[in-house]
Amino acid sequence: MSATPNGASARPFASHPIRLILNGQDRQLDVLPWTTLLDLLREQLDLIGSKKGCDHGQCGACTVLRDGKRVNACLTLAVMCDGAELTTVEGLASGDVLHPIQRAFIKHDAFQCGYCTPGQLCSAVGLANEGRAHTPAQIQELMSGNLCRCGAYSNIRDAIEEVVLGGEQ
Ligand code: FES
Ligand code: FES
Repeated sequence: MSATPNGASARPFASHPIRLILNGQDRQLDVLPWTTLLDLLREQLDLIGSKKGCDHGQCGACTVLRDGKRVNACLTLAVMCDGAELTTVEGLASGDVLHPIQRAFIKHDAFQCGYCTPGQLCSAVGLANEGRAHTPAQIQELMSGNLCRCGAYSNIRDAIEEVVLGGEQ
């Protein structure tokens, strides 16, 4: 313990051990209680595919999958993920075989700068897992949390419709 200016002892902040299955790998990590999942991924684990667009849950660029469900990594504390299975954009492909949604994005040219793309991809996979989008309008509504500053929406929608409505998974 260290002393504060008024003589009281200050307790150092304790890190917490967590265990994750991250992109198929068992990981045991120590995280500080305020570390977000996004900062853990980007700053500590060098998984920089997930992007920090707003850091406020507004843009979806940080979307990853926790136990198959999409979450904003910027709004998720890393300690909340103890025991979870996490998939980031780096884990969508199986080796050299791209996920169907990745192939569809390439086919439909569904990106320009690519900044939003990792979040769009993870969100689309989460949407397919949810199984509640059955029309183009529902896809549009349920993907509305993922913004694209380049305005590539029509191509993004085409790619997602092909996979989600076409049943290709
Ligand atoms: S960085 Fe998380 S929603 Fe924008
Ligand atoms: S492709 Fe540039 S922000 Fe979406």
